[in-house]
Amino acid sequence: MTELRVVEVTEEHLDSVWQVRTRSFGMGGDRDEWKKTARSFMVDGRYLGVLDGDELVAAARIWPHEQWWGGRRVPMGGVAGVVVAPEYRGRGVGSLLMRAVLNLCAAKGYPLTALYPATTVLYRHLGYEFAGSRHLYTFEAADLRTLGGSGTAVRKAGRDDADLFLELAAKAHEARRSNGPLIWPRTEVESWLEDEDNFAYVADDGFVVYKWDDRNLAVEELIAGSEETARALWATVGSGASIAKTVEACCAPFDPIHLMVEHEARGQSWQNRWMLRLVDVPAAFAGRGFPDGVVLEADLRIDDPELPANTGDWHLSVSNGSATLTTAEPSADALRLGPRGLAALYAGMPLATLRGAGLATGGAATADSALNAVFGGPAAYMLDDF
Ligand SMILES: CC(C)(COP(=O)(O)OP(=O)(O)OC[C@H]1O[C@@H](n2cnc3c(N)ncnc32)[C@H](O)[C@@H]1OP(=O)(O)O)[C@@H](O)C(=O)NCCC(=O)NCCS
Repeated sequence: MTELRVVEVTEEHLDSVWQVRTRSFGMGGDRDEWKKTARSFMVDGRYLGVLDGDELVAAARIWPHEQWWGGRRVPMGGVAGVVVAPEYRGRGVGSLLMRAVLNLCAAKGYPLTALYPATTVLYRHLGYEFAGSRHLYTFEAADLRTLGGSGTAVRKAGRDDADLFLELAAKAHEARRSNGPLIWPRTEVESWLEDEDNFAYVADDGFVVYKWDDRNLAVEELIAGSEETARALWATVGSGASIAKTVEACCAPFDPIHLMVEHEARGQSWQNRWMLRLVDVPAAFAGRGFPDGVVLEADLRIDDPELPANTGDWHLSVSNGSATLTTAEPSADALRLGPRGLAALYAGMPLATLRGAGLATGGAATADSALNAVFGGPAAYMLDDF
């Protein structure tokens, strides 16, 4: 092994990345299609690789996502496709690569980064922590068919509706003060909507995209701004009940559908947890929303060895649904957090959990309930994998 170098992935590396990915994820697929997607990450240097001499031995890419936090959109670097060639594993190559990914997220101005971990150890070492889940539920198609809503106009949608879909999702997430859901780049929404395997329908204040999954149906995403629209869109999917017995759907555990269907979703719902990391702590706080009417003044001591700009004594002020984080004098009452505790707190994990896991210390114990109120709200979730 010569000295390893982190580089931007370029055209000449793509075949090697494909090989390492195949050895890592066991996936086949269409190499040309994969290359097309890969190039969209190369355009502005969001695909990193590790070279040993001329040989590419590891790679990772960053999605230019945004994420809803407290009903406001915060730019988030979505890390995906982290792979190390089998013969290079267990020697720190993954850590070298992820450290570069983290610094690239900072350089590109993402206050947050998130990922779905296949193994947590690598990412925890770098300050990521569990923040939320993606939940998959299985409903009886017949239950959805009878939900009603037939008075609501629903029309077929397509590629030209991408802006409308983004706008409807934004309205719903702002109103609900959502935590966690992704905002995809418009080009991705367009290609999602033009895919002939996806069936998209839109109403005045909502939309659904669903598809066949073998002989059953699967909802990709359903957004509804009112009860009537929710009934109409779910019933549109359920209208396939003569063929499909079940409908799988990724939705929040507190989605209104759970309170509307006659039978609860099948017992074995599945969840996939994602991790979060704050890259630029003041920007991450300034960018997100907080519950109205909650006021907080608190001192924080943050220690972040990987991203030292975050390290220091800070004062957090929250009021009128917004926060500011300013540098402060050291305080004996400061709540002490590392990047993992900070990520979990930001995502609404109760202080008692953080203290119980050793991820938060110090601070005035009486302030815990105020911090819980500030960072509380709907549990963080995502509807999509990436
Ligand atoms: C996961 C993967 C990227 C790790 O790369 P790597 O170069 O072996 O990682 P490192 O050597 O830098 O290890 C960093 C830490 O993670 C730990 N680690 C690495 N792989 C692990 C695994 N599969 N299970 C548990 N811990 C693991 C290491 O032990 C090390 O921790 P330590 O310092 O406390 O011992 C690599 O094994 C891989 O490509 N796997 C297949 C694809 C995959 O799962 N990618 C992740 C997608 S999210």
